[in-house]
Amino acid sequence: MSVEKYYNAISKGYGNLYEEEQKQKIETILNIVDIKGKVLDVGCGTCLLANYIEDYKGVDVSSKFVEHCKKKGLNVIKADAKNLPFKDKEFDWVVSITVLQDIDEIEKAVKEMKRVGKKLCISVLKKGNVRKVRELLRGAKEYDIGKDILFIK
Ligand SMILES: C[S@@+](CC[C@H](N)C(=O)[O-])C[C@H]1O[C@@H](n2cnc3c(N)ncnc32)[C@H](O)[C@@H]1O
Repeated sequence: MSVEKYYNAISKGYGNLYEEEQKQKIETILNIVDIKGKVLDVGCGTCLLANYIEDYKGVDVSSKFVEHCKKKGLNVIKADAKNLPFKDKEFDWVVSITVLQDIDEIEKAVKEMKRVGKKLCISVLKKGNVRKVRELLRGAKEYDIGKDILFIK
């Protein structure tokens, strides 16, 4: 099953299953780093981050999540992390929380995030491909935030 189909299928139950956990992660992250300015949330899911950011834009590959967020009036579009429809350095921050473990071509996604963002705030599940992300984000500051490793660059 593709990632899009998987997240479309679980989108209704996602809130009950993961929102509290993801909210805690976001609050931990925002205690570590001051995310300001124009912010892109890659793999935004239910757009939890939008509650904390003024100038927010979300992208997700799951049409169900995108619909859900649009209904809430949020600034979100359907797009793949590996091909972001934005200009170079368009965002002050690119944030991506617990997404890269789902992406098979991590290199392409990280390259795109670097291209469109001035700064990066990326977390990946510890059981995901942390070593690969570390390699791609060489020199990033690293934090253990529980189930994820957070990279700031
Ligand atoms: C574990 S959820 C995390 C959602 C959100 N970041 C949060 O913290 O609540 C992973 C999200 O990444 C999205 N995703 C996975 N692969 C993607 C890709 N290639 N491009 C964009 N979004 C993707 C999924 O659809 C899903 O919404």
